[in-house]
Amino acid sequence: MGGAGQGADARRRTGHIGRAVVRHSPSPADRCWKVAGGRVYSATMNVRAAKIADAKAIYALINSHAERDRMLFRSMADIYENLQAFVVVEVADSVIGCCALEVIWSDLAEIKSLAVDDSQREKGVGKMLVGAALERARELGVPRVFALTLEPSFFEKLGFAIVEKETLPMKVWSDCAKCSKQQDCDETAVVKDVK
Ligand SMILES: CC(C)(COP(=O)(O)OP(=O)(O)OC[C@H]1O[C@@H](n2cnc3c(N)ncnc32)[C@H](O)[C@@H]1OP(=O)(O)O)[C@@H](O)C(=O)NCCC(=O)NCCS
Repeated sequence: MGGAGQGADARRRTGHIGRAVVRHSPSPADRCWKVAGGRVYSATMNVRAAKIADAKAIYALINSHAERDRMLFRSMADIYENLQAFVVVEVADSVIGCCALEVIWSDLAEIKSLAVDDSQREKGVGKMLVGAALERARELGVPRVFALTLEPSFFEKLGFAIVEKETLPMKVWSDCAKCSKQQDCDETAVVKDVK
């Protein structure tokens, strides 16, 4: 590992999302320390569109949080059907985070299934994933993105604003039928205009 090419990578990260190129500001978090065979080495984070081979890792990530009531479960069938909406962050060939952007209507898309491996939290992975989702919305021409979340403060840090859930269109609530909480929904709606 290492070399001049990687140095350039660390200055400005580039990942392919569909046919477009997404750029992320450099951050110390772009490097994770990994231990292998007793040796410690640094590995570079990479954000990219999900591939079929990532589906099981996406499933494991989402459902590890869903088991603790932090997000909705998703089946393998659901993940395969929506794979094109997902981006992942990988380090040394391991998927450590995922996020989906699903278009709801002509003027609105939803950030769904944002999940970061517990051992990799607070390293900028979530921010990278949301940045990639916003870039994808920009490419698609969707002017507004929202999320329903138990972590509104995280989204506020990324420039989202909290809004009343009732201000979102009815179509947004299709997932509620799959949720055990239904009328006792404890999620907060956050929105951001895509510029
Ligand atoms: C919420 C979650 C996605 C955050 O991911 P992460 O990789 O740990 O977050 P980042 O490191 O990118 O954090 C970016 C910024 O948000 C802050 N942040 C992270 N988690 C936060 C939280 N729960 N509340 C408030 N701020 C938070 C970080 O400190 C950082 O701030 P800084 O820019 O001032 O340094 C992750 O903890 C997670 O997967 N949680 C469980 C699943 C979940 O709740 N997903 C959201 C469902 S919509």
